[in-house]
Amino acid sequence: MSDPVRILGISGSLRAGSYNSAALRAAQALAPEGVQFEFAEIGDLPLYDDDQRHQAFPPAVLRLEQQIRSADAVLFASPEYNYSISGVLKNAIDWLSRLDHQPFAGKAAGIIGASGGLLGTARAQYHLRQIGVFLDLRFMNRPEVMIGGAQNRFDSSGTLTDAATREILAKFVAALRDWALAHRRQAPLKQ
Ligand code: FNR
Repeated sequence: MSDPVRILGISGSLRAGSYNSAALRAAQALAPEGVQFEFAEIGDLPLYDDDQRHQAFPPAVLRLEQQIRSADAVLFASPEYNYSISGVLKNAIDWLSRLDHQPFAGKAAGIIGASGGLLGTARAQYHLRQIGVFLDLRFMNRPEVMIGGAQNRFDSSGTLTDAATREILAKFVAALRDWALAHRRQAPLKQ
């Protein structure tokens, strides 16, 4: 049997009832055989402090670094806050970006997102893609998964019930598996 494809889900929401965390769990449930999910914890990272960085990186950042390094792909699901990604996610990215040989370089990645509005985090997703240019993340372009009207697509326990959204999310995870496999053999570019 070949090695499983390891996907690390990173939610930009700390809310227990988060639609974005629920979307990541739905992606796991809809994943094809041979895909293994793990979920990152970013709520315990301190606020980015460049002085602290010069003394020592916080253990929570180093833990996250290892999770990213051992994943074949990272899957982000961020709320849209004021037309961008959440501050919690940006804080985590800022810490990780200052590590030696920062772990996002050359890493396959995908983005999904859910919001109550019509656009389903479209604006935040495009901000994250822009951040990914600096990080040298290798974002998959399509399919895009922007879950608008989230309150009508998840039930009260956070299960994704909308059939059309389940279908596109299943296609997305299969495509991300293929994208991750295509990147497995590629070394990251020199920083
Ligand atoms: C929001 N929300 C929001 N929604 C949106 O579509 N565009 C936006 O710019 C914003 N801005 C925004 C800012 C702040 C500070 C909050 C708290 C909320 C609504 C947001 O998308 C909604 O609360 C989601 O449900 C949050 O995601 P989780 O926590 O359910 O994953």
